[in-house]
Amino acid sequence: MVSLLENPLRVGLQQDRIPDPQILVIFGASGDLTQRKLVPSLYQMKRERRLPPELTIVGVARRDWSHDYFREHMLDGVENYGGGIGHQAEWDSFAQGLFYCSGDIDNPESYHKLKAFLAELDDQRGTRGNRSFYLSVAPRFFGEAAEQLGAAGMLADPEKTRLVIEKPFGKDLATAQSLNRIVRKVCREEQIYRIDHYLGKETVQNLMVFRFANAIFEPLWNRQFVDHVQITVAETVGLEGRAGYYETAGALRDMVQNHLMQLFCLTAMEPPNSLDADSIRNEKVKVIQAARLADTENLDRSAVRGQYTPGWMKGKAVPGYRDEDGASPESTTPTYAALKLVVDNWRWKGVPFYLRTGKRMPKKVSEISIHFKEVPYLMFQSAAKQMNHNVLALRIQPDEGISMKFEVKTPGSSLRTRSVDMDFRYDAAFGQASAEAYSRLLVDCMLGDQTLFTRGDEVEASWRVLTPVLEVWDAPAPPDAIPFYEAGTWEPVEAELLLNRDGRRWRRLSG
Ligand code: BG6
Repeated sequence: MVSLLENPLRVGLQQDRIPDPQILVIFGASGDLTQRKLVPSLYQMKRERRLPPELTIVGVARRDWSHDYFREHMLDGVENYGGGIGHQAEWDSFAQGLFYCSGDIDNPESYHKLKAFLAELDDQRGTRGNRSFYLSVAPRFFGEAAEQLGAAGMLADPEKTRLVIEKPFGKDLATAQSLNRIVRKVCREEQIYRIDHYLGKETVQNLMVFRFANAIFEPLWNRQFVDHVQITVAETVGLEGRAGYYETAGALRDMVQNHLMQLFCLTAMEPPNSLDADSIRNEKVKVIQAARLADTENLDRSAVRGQYTPGWMKGKAVPGYRDEDGASPESTTPTYAALKLVVDNWRWKGVPFYLRTGKRMPKKVSEISIHFKEVPYLMFQSAAKQMNHNVLALRIQPDEGISMKFEVKTPGSSLRTRSVDMDFRYDAAFGQASAEAYSRLLVDCMLGDQTLFTRGDEVEASWRVLTPVLEVWDAPAPPDAIPFYEAGTWEPVEAELLLNRDGRRWRRLSG
């Protein structure tokens, strides 16, 4: 058998190579993402010797900053949001590779200036014309920036240039298709890296290893044994000053179309033939294409939204969504969404996938739980009113790990059973925290490995599944059209009903 290391195509889930010398150009470099995530992650990677010494980072934004000001600003980011600088000499060496170039996203002149500056840096830093352009700007500028880069000839070399695009990729199927058309005019699909930071999380990548490197689970992973699947991404945070974006996005666009759909794909897809990017992405596309909302005639039987009202989080009073800065007092933007999906294929016919996500929930937790069918005939008395199903839970974050719930005999003379958990915890097993998702993704992009990035047809397929919900939820509605839940509590009752109607209930996630 060929080992993964022997096969150069199978680089997808490994990362022991160092990228070629290159320049990472970040558009929107004065924003939070650059200071809080991107540069601290890159610095960490540099400290772990996973980046080439020549790596050069150029921040681009409208503000008139100097290189030194940019370096100081990034230093603050590493100190406050990253792991600190460690040795001063290490930071100094990293900071020498940080540059800033002011420019307007819609001004062709800015691109010519940038192009000339990058050529100068090639000579100075030995970056050999290799570039990744990272669009960390407001989504409405993605198309414009791509077109301008194309017009300036900066994406012309498919071997040396890449375009990284943050989420959200479009705001519905039509806009995603149009953005795909624009970017494909200026570069090839092999140059496009659509980011979904959930794919960079260690435990999300482990989903594939768990499913396909163990012989005992895959035979059970189908309609014969699985009753249903639940995917939960619950957050404790509220709007966090992002009303400008969130008011038009809401939970469906912000979380479901990308993060939850990715978790769904990795849980439901068929085994890929190999680990190269396209084999995996082909399987993901196939399974989304087979997925649909359970009932589009009666939409509330397959999609429930909710919005948080004032409540309490960890003993502190928090405002309701409508009272948050920048949110409309009559907003019907959902901060919670739950869906019931079904998959029309042999493996999953008749097995519902329930997805839910919400802000201001009692606990931050992302989890996929596989609920197995009951035993065909029960001969024991259970301590619970009804026999509990076996549940396999894959905890994405925090407390990354895997647990299996099964029945055991309670001690004593009577033959009674009770559910217990067998628990595996990443931190206990490996004693180290998972790397920041962005680190992994940035390095993969520089390596030219697209496995953990979303392909154009995948994004479109995902929007297609959600279109019937968007059509209804986007329509103008009276302020009381949306169900409410109090901040610090789990879902609105309507979401409970989504499962209760099927004789099921959401898994209780303590908190
Ligand atoms: C982002 C969303 O993509 O993911 C945020 O825009 C959300 O609204 C965040 O809070 C959650 O990411 P994580 O890694 O904290 O689960």
